[in-house]
Amino acid sequence: MQTSTESASQNDAPDLSALHVAVIGAGNMGGPVVKTFLRSGVPGEQLRIANSSPESSRRAAEELGATAAESRAEAIEDADVVVLGVKPYQILDLLAEIGGDLREDALIISLAAGITLAQMEEALPEGRAVMRAMPNTPISVGEGAVGLMRGSAVDDDAHVLAHALFATAGVARDITEDQVHAFIGAAGSMPAFVFAIIEAMTDEAVRQGLKRDLATALVQQTVRGGATMLMESGVHPAVAKNGVSSPGGTTVQGLAALEREGVRAGVAAAMAAAHDASRAMTKN
Ligand SMILES: NC(=O)c1ccc[n+]([C@@H]2O[C@H](COP(=O)([O-])OP(=O)(O)OC[C@H]3O[C@@H](n4cnc5c(N)ncnc54)[C@H](OP(=O)(O)O)[C@@H]3O)[C@@H](O)[C@H]2O)c1
Repeated sequence: MQTSTESASQNDAPDLSALHVAVIGAGNMGGPVVKTFLRSGVPGEQLRIANSSPESSRRAAEELGATAAESRAEAIEDADVVVLGVKPYQILDLLAEIGGDLREDALIISLAAGITLAQMEEALPEGRAVMRAMPNTPISVGEGAVGLMRGSAVDDDAHVLAHALFATAGVARDITEDQVHAFIGAAGSMPAFVFAIIEAMTDEAVRQGLKRDLATALVQQTVRGGATMLMESGVHPAVAKNGVSSPGGTTVQGLAALEREGVRAGVAAAMAAAHDASRAMTKN
């Protein structure tokens, strides 16, 4: 039996080709989740999207390669898995609306920050399987991170199914609800921090005379290369950093400037602010 912090094994991944999935709210985050599920093997004709209007559902379905539902009720009909991609303040009302019409054995996966498993379980008929998934947007290119939280009625098969759906997200790990706040700082909100840093580095390269397309290519490739090098070698970042710091050379001068300008403290402050905001959003 798996504990809540162990990852499900890839070996017992179920076949997703017969699965019916409903995604209610395929927006900035629900959209990348749709892409991930399709990549993981859910057929587009069996993945139904319901947005705030049929036109919006059709637009999203066409763009993502899934199927539009005419209504939320149509989307969830016979669905094995129902993803809730609406805003946090809408989640409990939505569950009150659709709870009675969900299949008894459906797995419900909420993407919402701040709404707990207990709150959702209470809004549903007893014994419903509810999970939370906290993804980040790079899952849309298979290079993201997802934290999965398991509700009290989720059996091992449903837990393995959730991992199979997110198997092509990048990294998918079980976390506790208490860890989700740190997860948001380290992954959920992190793409925006990385984008801001990439923008700053690119702008400075342009200021120093490189053409923007060259600056963009150099910075993005170097950020990707740095992360890939660490992931593939397992080397600690401090060791890798020391490895490129010759005495009195260009890199140590740059690193010293980074420390003087408080970049390390700024990054930590950004992550702490995201963590704190997430904790404040969670009512209980
Ligand atoms: N953005 C992130 O990086 C991120 C990361 C982790 C978790 N999340 C979570 O993801 C959830 C969605 O956030 P988001 O940034 O993706 O918001 P978003 O882009 O505004 O998407 C919300 C989606 O919900 C749909 N919607 C609104 N009311 C609806 C209704 N009554 N019935 C069906 N669909 C409805 C919207 O449809 P229309 O397009 O037709 O308006 C839209 O597709 C939130 O709970 C958030 O906490 C977001």
